Amino acid sequence: MSGNAYQEDRGNKDRSITKDGGGTLRPGRYSGEAQAGAEGEPFLIGDAMTGGYGGGANILHDCTIAVEKGQIAVIVGPNGAGKSTAMKAVFGMLDLRGGDVRLGGESIATLTPQARVAKGMGFVPQTSNVFTSLTVEENLEMGAFIRRDDIRQTMAQVYDLFPVLAEKRRQKAGELSGGQRQQVAVGRALMTEPQVLMLDEPTAGVSPIVMDELFDRIIEVSRTGISILMVEQNARQALEIADKGYVLVQGANRYTDTGAALLADPEVRASFLGG
Ligand SMILES: Nc1ncnc2c1ncn2[C@@H]1O[C@H](COP(=O)(O)OP(=O)(O)O)[C@@H](O)[C@H]1O
Ligand SMILES: [Mg+2]
Repeated sequence: MSGNAYQEDRGNKDRSITKDGGGTLRPGRYSGEAQAGAEGEPFLIGDAMTGGYGGGANILHDCTIAVEKGQIAVIVGPNGAGKSTAMKAVFGMLDLRGGDVRLGGESIATLTPQARVAKGMGFVPQTSNVFTSLTVEENLEMGAFIRRDDIRQTMAQVYDLFPVLAEKRRQKAGELSGGQRQQVAVGRALMTEPQVLMLDEPTAGVSPIVMDELFDRIIEVSRTGISILMVEQNARQALEIADKGYVLVQGANRYTDTGAALLADPEVRASFLGG
């Protein structure tokens, strides 16, 4: 036994997510009613989303992204395709002019981002995702802002997942490497014990080795039953770990399939994966 709640779940996607004890994360303890989706419906879905910023033109056009319970869904596509905009729409940072967002079969499209956190969503935005002037531990404490109970066990689990953060718990996040900062950002989002973790380019600006490590940790998180919805510019590597992949172009779905099928598709390879 490794003593790591995530590693102990390696290779077993079917483990009960509500099982208590042993230091296992219990995704969704704060999420009230969100249960498995309606029959045939993914756990989280941004369904046929259309919308843009403020009064501006639509950026998203009938765009659908979704993730099943405990799975990894990856969104790829060129710069400016609307990947971040789609993530913001799902998290409630964009007013939709069409479509819906459902979690566990329930429409959450009118909820504020904070209310979506209370429903079990965690979001790591693409930029400004840590408080650089706060210590690592203070960042994790800030992440737990909606909790009124003891957060120490969750913090210990985050430190098990990212041991370097335990070493640097008293250091300011702004003094860490890019990869370590991304670990702080992911750890901060895990502090509310979300059911769904949304990550916008978690490996941006890190070396290939650090990227592989971060992907391994993300797989471990998913194996505890937490759904991962992730935007990635390292498209090939991300699709390798994806149950489901979405290629977005100009705010619309271009290709949707399993990660493996997209990787094998000659057109997807030629246009979006560098051949
Ligand atoms: N805050 C904003 N206000 C207005 N337009 C924006 C804003 N953020 C992004 N955009 C525009 O939305 C489009 C999609 O951007 P984005 O979702 O960031 O793409 P991606 O994440 O795929 O690179 C771009 O044309 C971009 O200029
Ligand atoms: Mg983006």
